[in-house]
Amino acid sequence: MSRFFDLVSKPARDLGTTKLPSSTPALVERRSHLIELDSNENPFGPSPRAMDAMRSVLSTSNSYPDDDCRPLRRELASQHGVLPEQVLVTAGSTALLSLLCQTLLARGLNAVTSRCSFIVYSMAVRTVGAQLIEAPTHEDGFDLDAILAAIDANTRIVFLANPNNPTGTLLEASIVDRFVARLPSHVVVILDEAYYEFAQHFASLNQIGYSSSLDHIRRGASAVVLRTFSKAHGLAGLRIGYGLGPAELLGYCARMRNTFSVSSVAQAAALAALDDHQHIQRVVENNALQSQVLLKELAELEFRVVPSSANFLFCDLGEDAAAFANRLREEGVAVRPLGPWGAPNCIRVTIGRPEQNQIFLNAARRIRSNPSEVGSGVSSRGT
Ligand SMILES: Cc1ncc(COP(=O)(O)O)c(C=O)c1O
Repeated sequence: MSRFFDLVSKPARDLGTTKLPSSTPALVERRSHLIELDSNENPFGPSPRAMDAMRSVLSTSNSYPDDDCRPLRRELASQHGVLPEQVLVTAGSTALLSLLCQTLLARGLNAVTSRCSFIVYSMAVRTVGAQLIEAPTHEDGFDLDAILAAIDANTRIVFLANPNNPTGTLLEASIVDRFVARLPSHVVVILDEAYYEFAQHFASLNQIGYSSSLDHIRRGASAVVLRTFSKAHGLAGLRIGYGLGPAELLGYCARMRNTFSVSSVAQAAALAALDDHQHIQRVVENNALQSQVLLKELAELEFRVVPSSANFLFCDLGEDAAAFANRLREEGVAVRPLGPWGAPNCIRVTIGRPEQNQIFLNAARRIRSNPSEVGSGVSSRGT
């Protein structure tokens, strides 16, 4: 019999429990040899400037951090052309997603997004007892008309991941602008731009317009733009991201955040990484080049691959992706099978360094040419 089922809140009961996986030394050892292409991390590591900045603040770790992240917020505000009170720094942008849900949602209210989008939206919404409505997709990406049609009087949030995770599809700036103009006034749109730097690079190569989201913030629209240091800056392990939006709304979120949740090491690293243009350039250029290599070679294996504006590829294998991912893992490569996203034949693979991608491609070729064995690898973490 459960001791706590009747004690926990209704949203907690609805979500259910998680059995934390045990981690035997053998599993840890195996993971440390894996090429990890399953969590969209930066294959070049942290910005070197961030590394220096981290070293220089380590000796102050006995003090609590600046809870308001003032120098970083000031710099972000100046670089984005908004006021410091229109910037909120949190422990990763997922922390701000949760705060926005706590602030705007409750039982009886809902948020709208697309099917096959960022999996954390569902958790953040359901944790506060609200409902997530997932509109149908269009050509592997967001169908903005379907999203508009799904909005009702109880909707408070629309999530747009641009580019979308896991499909990598991009919505052009003019299309997002028209969508934002059509939103009813009781809805806040969250423009989640976690892969901003990659998307910006792809958009300039392809000569298309990506993101005028900051214009919406400057004119005071009911919008919050999310950005992160986890991807192009290579600081995922430090947990630091930020939102740009209306000062009043971010003020409510700030009141709800956990005290001292953004460490001083993360703040110093982020401030230094912001200006490390050389590192970011190296990362986005490798990403764009390697995305072409992977697209071509995966297509030769007769997989359907969606052209990406982010640092990963969505790949339809036409076969059970969990079994394929398990076999890849036995070959030393971790990718993300997308069954939990409703795409059981698809994987998401992070675009790595050239040599990592070649190891992945060689393993994929071996598995493709010998499809009989079914893998039995280890389950993996993350989003
Ligand atoms: C669409 C999207 N938004 C937000 C995030 C979260 O990033 P962070 O590490 O800042 O919490 C991710 C990470 O994978 C993502 O894919």
